[in-house]
Amino acid sequence: MASSLIAILAASILALVFLGLWLSARGKLASLTAAASAVPAPVSDDPDSRLEALREEFIGSQKEIIFTLSELVEFRTRESETHVERVAEFARIFAEILGLDAKEALLLTEAAPMHDIGKIGLSDYIIHKPGALTTEELEMMRDHTQIGHDILARHHGPLFQRAATIALEHHERWDGSGYPRGLKGAAISLSGRIVALCDVFDSLSNPRSYKAAWTLEKTVEFVKDSAGHHFDPKLVEAMSGNMDRFLKVLVRMRDR
Ligand SMILES: [Fe+2]
Ligand SMILES: [Fe+2]
Repeated sequence: MASSLIAILAASILALVFLGLWLSARGKLASLTAAASAVPAPVSDDPDSRLEALREEFIGSQKEIIFTLSELVEFRTRESETHVERVAEFARIFAEILGLDAKEALLLTEAAPMHDIGKIGLSDYIIHKPGALTTEELEMMRDHTQIGHDILARHHGPLFQRAATIALEHHERWDGSGYPRGLKGAAISLSGRIVALCDVFDSLSNPRSYKAAWTLEKTVEFVKDSAGHHFDPKLVEAMSGNMDRFLKVLVRMRDR
């Protein structure tokens, strides 16, 4: 009798131990399940789509950084803060008109806003001097092309390499009378030639601290007269044949 009671008690204890272990394991499983369901669901199960979304996010952030840096320079030089955005948009229109492939178009459009980044290395005295610069001061001002190039060329990615070229060449002229190297014609990169035209077109069409905005007629006339001298004649022709597109940007992206 006593032995059967001991057997029943032992069996009951064993049953309780197993029940406890089972309940504990079940609880852990439940909490693990809850934790797993608390993790945000991925945007897409497709790895390619997720990679593409990340790439787009990265490009978007990179663009914002580029525009912010470029606008800082415009702010310091007291030029219009939307100037660099319009120059990028003009460059995008050129990429379309000329039929550049998607990669070229992207490099040109995203590098264009950085053309004057070298001005960050100029003294306030040179940047803000009222009136004409002396020959020596003019030389200092011209250094912004080389300074910009040297800053940007330190970065090895294709975007910064393109931006370095544009920074160096955006004051070169088709007839060789530009600076810093006096390059002539096709020796100036296509990106450099495009940004040179976009930069001047926008600067003339908008007011600056040292001048009022030119009328559109006067700006268009100046650009046409400068074909083959200051600007690549083929680019002037392309702009003239699509002037309505460029003018729409001037209206849509006015200074804030
Ligand atoms: Fe410049
Ligand atoms: Fe500019």
